[in-house]
Amino acid sequence: DWTMGAYKDEAIRQIREQVGDKKVICGLSGGVDSSVAAVLIHEAIGDQLTCVFVDHGLLRKNEAQEVVKMFRDNYNIQLIHADESELFLGELDGQSDPETKRKIIGKLFIDVFQKHADTIEGAEFLAQGTLYPDVIESVSFSGGPSVTIKSHHNVGGLPEKMGLKLVEPLRELFKDEVRALGHELGLPASFIGRHPFPGPGLAIRCPGEITREKLDILREADAVYIDQIRKHGLYDEIWQAFVAILPVRTVGVMGDGRTYDYACALRAVTSVDGMTADYYPFTHEFLGETATRIINEVKGINRCTYDITSKPPGTIEWE
Ligand code: XMP
Repeated sequence: DWTMGAYKDEAIRQIREQVGDKKVICGLSGGVDSSVAAVLIHEAIGDQLTCVFVDHGLLRKNEAQEVVKMFRDNYNIQLIHADESELFLGELDGQSDPETKRKIIGKLFIDVFQKHADTIEGAEFLAQGTLYPDVIESVSFSGGPSVTIKSHHNVGGLPEKMGLKLVEPLRELFKDEVRALGHELGLPASFIGRHPFPGPGLAIRCPGEITREKLDILREADAVYIDQIRKHGLYDEIWQAFVAILPVRTVGVMGDGRTYDYACALRAVTSVDGMTADYYPFTHEFLGETATRIINEVKGINRCTYDITSKPPGTIEWE
């Protein structure tokens, strides 16, 4: 796309002009926005950029390895892989209230990010994948929404606290333009088209108490579900699809034995911006086949339900 090509060149010029020979830190989440920002900035200033990837132990199956592989091995970007799963899971131990869980994760995330960012000597800039809609929203809701449904995970306030200046090369772009830019920068299509993933990760797909056992089961079930969706060519029609592991075990029968395992809920929605959403109308055939696969392939799950709640009145995530 020639327009995006020109945009890219101009963005690179501006980053060089803003940053000069100084160092930049970029928080990498594995999501599309921060990834595109990181690759763009890397094209502009190379090794003056260091990315910090905080692994809170609440990522999907193989996600951390894939992020490290792509950015460190493939793009040759300096990357700190901060594996802090012990810390996060330890602090979350015994917590079941959704807002408490979110706040613990949000606070730890900022602490950990700052700790690792502080090891990058002489950094003067913090890069963020802020998009145009984020800019608009923070202006129009500057008084804060009157009702907080869920406290969102972000690193707002961090640049001031750390004395860093912001680099926001995507702040004039909409989501589809970020995808086009990612394409222009050579990011794989499968990566650019990925569904959004929330900052608190699998914690909010594991209602109630989080245990390592439940997280492991959830990761396996989610991987099978997404594989089914990709195999049926439905991935790009869906805004977001994931499994939630329910805080209940149910009785089942498998072979000639009784089972007593977790139930899970499959979720898939269509949406334009995540503000409202409709549940995705899978065929019964698809749902039956997927339930059979999950129950057969994932040890620890013996019952599957499909969540047919739209937003409103539901939210997309379970917590
Ligand atoms: P809900 O569940 O509120 O989610 O309908 C709307 C969209 O926001 C995502 N989400 C988050 N994204 N930090 C994020 O970056 C968060 O704390 C967070 N909580 C929800 C959710 O996945 C959906 O796309």
